[in-house]
Amino acid sequence: MGERFPQEFIDELVARTDIVELIDSRIPLRKAGREYVACCPFHNEKTPSFTVSPQKQFYHCFGCGVHGTVIGFLIAFDRLSFIEAVEELAQRVGMTIPQGSDSAHRNHHQGLYEVLSYTAEFYQQQLKTGTHQGRVKAYLQGRGLSHPIITEFGLGFAPSRWDALLRHTPLPLRSRLQTAGLVVDKGDGRCYDRFRDRVMFPIHDYRGRVVGFGGRLLGEGSPKYLNSPETPLFHKGRELYGLYQVRQSVRHCDRLLVVEGYMDVLALAEHNIRYAVATLGTATTPDHLTRLFRMTPVVVFCFDGDRAGYRAAWRALETALPLLSQGRQVQFMFLPQGEDPDTVVRAEGQAAFEARLEKATPLSDFLLSSLQRKVNLGSMDGRARLVELARPLVSKIPPGVYRDMLLARLAEVAQVEQAALTRHLDQGKSPPVVPRQRLERGMAPLARKAVAILLQRPNLIQSVDESFSLRGLDGRGAKLLQELIELLQSSPHLSTAALLERWRDSEMGRYLEQLASWELFLTDEDMGLELQAALRRLQAQAAEQRMTMLSNQPSLTAAERQELLALLAAK
Ligand code: UTP
Ligand code: MN
Repeated sequence: MGERFPQEFIDELVARTDIVELIDSRIPLRKAGREYVACCPFHNEKTPSFTVSPQKQFYHCFGCGVHGTVIGFLIAFDRLSFIEAVEELAQRVGMTIPQGSDSAHRNHHQGLYEVLSYTAEFYQQQLKTGTHQGRVKAYLQGRGLSHPIITEFGLGFAPSRWDALLRHTPLPLRSRLQTAGLVVDKGDGRCYDRFRDRVMFPIHDYRGRVVGFGGRLLGEGSPKYLNSPETPLFHKGRELYGLYQVRQSVRHCDRLLVVEGYMDVLALAEHNIRYAVATLGTATTPDHLTRLFRMTPVVVFCFDGDRAGYRAAWRALETALPLLSQGRQVQFMFLPQGEDPDTVVRAEGQAAFEARLEKATPLSDFLLSSLQRKVNLGSMDGRARLVELARPLVSKIPPGVYRDMLLARLAEVAQVEQAALTRHLDQGKSPPVVPRQRLERGMAPLARKAVAILLQRPNLIQSVDESFSLRGLDGRGAKLLQELIELLQSSPHLSTAALLERWRDSEMGRYLEQLASWELFLTDEDMGLELQAALRRLQAQAAEQRMTMLSNQPSLTAAERQELLALLAAK
């Protein structure tokens, strides 16, 4: 996160992409006047209120209010991160990600993707050939895996020879095997295959590229599972096994299930539960959760019902707290001791497993009941202790409905006034973020209108005087307008969408998106006239304020006196 691309690069990317074409490739659009329409993919509707403007390069739904640029669309619809959306678009229009940005780095690793994909194919091939074939097939069959699932997940086999992959890899690729984590240097400069005599599970990134592997021994032995080490392409804290396959079958889902093992994901898929992913032998990270919440509002963690399972669940809870906003939910599902999703679903079947899932414990219940178990609620000291224990946890939750509701329950259990509890919790915390309404109120109507018009018809900048200045005028709106004018004067060809990308991630950006979709009910000609009128009046206000300011000053420099005289004369 926090990756930055040069502004000109984003400008060009947006300019080269056609939003109509891109959205049309995902949801068929129909032309209606100057715009294109469809039924909104972000809410349920029967008559189309989702519009795409080729002029603004911007989409907007009059039904549910969603809107954005082509980058925003990929983030919302394809559930990509900003950087992923940029990569996707760059690939589409054939642009190279500039050097220095984080993605450029990834582009340099093209060779690594190549050798990983080559290796995945090699392992898959090994399932079909060789002397080990019967033994491997029997193992997979014994674990209940069918041909379609084996193929879909690209399972393979690494032969037991110490140099099977190494020898099979063509020379130009061979030098990359080590960086890709596929061979290990013995120390004497000689390398051997990392994965030997193991069933291989390729791990895919969000685009389906192989970035690493997990490998399981066919029989007993240690370690049972071996995973790729961290490489430039593979980060255990980012990737989730099975996420690519989930995305292939659905775009949004009601819930996603997080399990611990490769085999769990496969067994669940085998039983038609297609929304499970696995962490890769590590605890869940904020990165993992952010990824999951891009696809679903509900994440269910599945753990073993033993002590280790509870500990792991608690860790997941702590990681999830800061991400609990915007209606997101986390639940926990505990299986009988010694069982895992693989054994449960195979023994009980899809329906029974999903019935268990329905009964998953909401995070709030898990949090409160875990804490309650540590104190004696019968005593005042115990209840005070409960509040003390809950405090650092609750304060990790972003302010909002969820936190308020949890506080209400905590207040009830601890038998304290909720107001007192809230005061207590917020002590020493930074002030809350300024709500958006305040922003809007901070912008004078005139400036707001001028900003909206310029944003919607950037080419009107041609009618704005080179020397236009709002110097002296206070207020957010004036500052923003000045900024917008200067930006367009230096880059007159920016589209609405490109302009919006300049303010991405800022609070102002969200407000500007609203202005961009504001229906002004003006013809193009009227837009020009209204803009001129607004600018003239704003400039007059600026002059007025400047005059007042200068005339209230006890002494003026020569230049200031000149300016004041000029202003008076102009009046
Ligand atoms: P488990 O030991 O719970 O295995 O490891 P499992 O998934 O039930 O495997 P089967 O059913 O015996 O085949 C869960 C996950 O922990 C990681 C792997 O990612 C595995 O999927 N793990 C486990 C390792 O990385 N190394 C190990 O030695 C064991
Ligand atoms: Mn298992």
